[in-house]
Amino acid sequence: MDTLLLEHISANDVVSDTRAFALQHGKDHQEVVGAMKSVQSLGDVIATKEMSEEKWLLTDEGQKTLQAGSLEARLFQQIASEGSSLEELKKSFEGFSIAFGKASSKKWVSLDKASGIVKRATESIVDDVQKDLENLKLGEKLPPKTLDDYKKRKLIEKRVEKFYEICKGPGFSLETEKLATDLTSEMIANGSWKQQGFKGYNFSAKGRLPDSGHLHPLMKVRSEFRQIFLEMGFSEMPTNNFVESSFWNFDALFQPQQHPARDAHDTFFVSHPAQCNKELIPGDYMERVKKMHSEGGSGSIGYQYDWSEEEALKNLLRTHTTAVSSRMLYKLAETTKATGEFKPVKLFSIDRVFRNETLDATHLAEFHQIEGLVADYNLTLGNLIGMLYEFFNKLGIKDLRFKPAYNPYTEPSMEVFSFHPGLKKWIEIGNSGVFRPEMLIPMGLPEDVSVIAWGLSLERPTMIKYKLDNIRDLCGHKVNLQMVYDNPLCRIEKH
Ligand code: PHE
Repeated sequence: MDTLLLEHISANDVVSDTRAFALQHGKDHQEVVGAMKSVQSLGDVIATKEMSEEKWLLTDEGQKTLQAGSLEARLFQQIASEGSSLEELKKSFEGFSIAFGKASSKKWVSLDKASGIVKRATESIVDDVQKDLENLKLGEKLPPKTLDDYKKRKLIEKRVEKFYEICKGPGFSLETEKLATDLTSEMIANGSWKQQGFKGYNFSAKGRLPDSGHLHPLMKVRSEFRQIFLEMGFSEMPTNNFVESSFWNFDALFQPQQHPARDAHDTFFVSHPAQCNKELIPGDYMERVKKMHSEGGSGSIGYQYDWSEEEALKNLLRTHTTAVSSRMLYKLAETTKATGEFKPVKLFSIDRVFRNETLDATHLAEFHQIEGLVADYNLTLGNLIGMLYEFFNKLGIKDLRFKPAYNPYTEPSMEVFSFHPGLKKWIEIGNSGVFRPEMLIPMGLPEDVSVIAWGLSLERPTMIKYKLDNIRDLCGHKVNLQMVYDNPLCRIEKH
């Protein structure tokens, strides 16, 4: 193809229209343009001039009209010789109202309002629309008004066709040398670089995106939160179990067994196996939890109900990462007992939790929780407030407000609010509190140790940061992963 093109130029000095050249040689126009570009890349062998022309082409609907006739002609054909019911036609004829409008104005059909019957108003018709489209396809010109009308009817569309004029360049030659794109060590070693032609640099070419990993926005924000916790001296809790027993998820947290959150509307219970192995829960601890729920202790009167072991053994998908915190605090109490020494801890986790919620633009049945806790002697609400200021300050959130709240496992409890400059209102960003003695005493932690904790979702700050207003753009089967690739904020640089 390249040779054919060059020989034509050599003999005639010019290819004045690549479309005509393609037609003349029985080639596809794209193929000729491809050959032109490949010769062009060799340097100044040829000179080209781009030209363009607007063309009217048939749309899919236009093609259909060409084959089966216009919508109004098809309607005309469908009407029975004795007439057809308007209601029937409305149901059976797609695009009826447009077809009827056109056919009526062309006086092809008429409607008898009293009987609701549509009749043919003429013996035969000439489908001018179909004829026009045939002519257009053969290269004939149509009056602008007709073109405009067919464009509105979506029968035709305007496309810009590009084509080229090609003539000899200053370096024209029939012998085209393949130019090298790279200077190799071999060329230097054997001296062939002296004769070799090299391709010029194309400084306007777009750079290739470097091969590097791309983090999903949720994972990106997760690593930011992780960084903040690490800077503040927290260690990460092991959260690698989505399936948890009711015991660690609820009972250990002094959440009564009749609490509405345990209800199947909120919690996904697991059916196989429905119960966890009782051996996995320390028996004496379970007894102390049972006692705290049913009778109380250490100054509390508990909930005064019959605590059921069967209920506590029920497996579920954890509803909060506080289940992991309860396991870790129990472990801490055990270590304290074994070593005779209590060591303060700062722990955090960021992982997935599950709730059987009604799905909408901001709720999914699974989401990520961020949770932090500090266990030390004599911590107060003041320590919690200070910790929250410090934590959110690191995220760039300086103004906080607190509102009393209720959690079965914390007292006092506070919802945390921050001012959202975009929404211009105070929005809830987290939940927090001081863990109840009814939770800590059965674990065996020393009486003067208190634990302050807080939790928030990972999705909400991520949606705010990436300006997403539908959570389904962030997770789920409808996510466009290209968003991760296209969003420069998600890229991690290669080192
Ligand atoms: N577990 C709470 C929730 O699911 C968050 C929380 C954690 C509250 C720690 C207080 C203390 O919303």
